[in-house]
Amino acid sequence: MKIDFTLNNKHITLDTEPTKRLVDAIRDDLSLTGTKIGCEVGECGACTVVIDGEAVTSCLVLVGQVQGKNVLTIEGLSELEIGRILQKCFVENGAVQCGFCTPGMLMSAYALLNKNQNPSKEEIKEAMSGNLCRCTGYVPILNSIEKAKDELKTLSKK
Ligand code: FES
Ligand code: FES
Repeated sequence: MKIDFTLNNKHITLDTEPTKRLVDAIRDDLSLTGTKIGCEVGECGACTVVIDGEAVTSCLVLVGQVQGKNVLTIEGLSELEIGRILQKCFVENGAVQCGFCTPGMLMSAYALLNKNQNPSKEEIKEAMSGNLCRCTGYVPILNSIEKAKDELKTLSKK
């Protein structure tokens, strides 16, 4: 079946099995392997992508469900200002250890800051609560999002 959707700001038509998991279509059909597969049951957040502005675990979505939608993966993030700032802050603040959770963390953080450029600490924690880090690096991750928020604020005042 042909599935039309926007991927990382480009319209694409993907000819694939509509019942395939979105994460498999992204990684196998589209060769975008930045999105990771961890638990496969919606609990770790490693496979997080952003669909129509919302952070979604792509292991729980079928590719047929993204027909007509706007999908953003980690590969598209560096083309966006918020994404670039988040990536820089993660690196500068030591938020990347083994890096396995990082793409999913960045996608959830992006979805938050794209909707709300001034989230409270609690709102940041809540938005990131679906993303697990086996290296237990939560403090630098949360600090990085705070820093990104501050940089965005500074930019918006210029
Ligand atoms: S692999 Fe999808 S939430 Fe863990
Ligand atoms: S940096 Fe290793 S799982 Fe998070």
